[in-house]
Amino acid sequence: MKKLLVPSILSCDFARLKEEILEVKDAGVDWIHVDVMDGHFVPNISIGIPIVEALRSIGPPPMDIHLMIDNPDDYVVKFIEAGEPHVKLITVQVESCKLLYSTIAAIKSKGVMAGIAINPATPLSAIDQVIDLVDLVLVMTVEPGFGGQKFISEMIPKIKELRKIIDNKDGNKPLIEVDGGIKLENIKEVAEAGVDVIVSGSGIYKSDNYKKTIDEMRGIINSV
Ligand code: DX5
Ligand code: ZN
Repeated sequence: MKKLLVPSILSCDFARLKEEILEVKDAGVDWIHVDVMDGHFVPNISIGIPIVEALRSIGPPPMDIHLMIDNPDDYVVKFIEAGEPHVKLITVQVESCKLLYSTIAAIKSKGVMAGIAINPATPLSAIDQVIDLVDLVLVMTVEPGFGGQKFISEMIPKIKELRKIIDNKDGNKPLIEVDGGIKLENIKEVAEAGVDVIVSGSGIYKSDNYKKTIDEMRGIINSV
């Protein structure tokens, strides 16, 4: 499968949100990553339902919504309905989702991909029970909460291990997504570890020329 490149809008200029999104859309990104934070699960507050709703009118790329919140069970359908029909994927964190079976089912029943995210210190075994149900596993390569953090290199063996587990299993084969600290300098190493979907926030939005950075990143991941 072609590897997908997904800018995280957390690092964009929010005063120019529409232009910032349309610029990466014109540069041909696959999805945009929308980080939702509640000040409880993570020590930061970011984007909520009204913003997702507002983005509908600008014709965004498919939205990959990453819920870093407590009780995501109560919000998945609200986010999907707010962004319909532009919501491609909703990802919940295994550490905060209490009713994983029903929450994954609720996401899928709306025709949206269901993802499960795991923090750096959470072992892969935490998702054993749901790996057959989800469309995507998101391996966090920083602690969730802020853009612009340093990539935790110890996550490379974890990604490789997950690649092996998925390749060796029968039936459902979820995509692997990575998120946190991915830039031009390390995107090759991440792609080589066997991921399918690569999120980059500050790596794209803090660069001088988004299109040039996206083209260069695309060139690297396509060559792996
Ligand atoms: C971190 C977020 C990430 C973040 C990535 O909590 O989940 O999506 O925006 O930003 P960079 O690429 O700057 O680490
Ligand atoms: Zn994220």
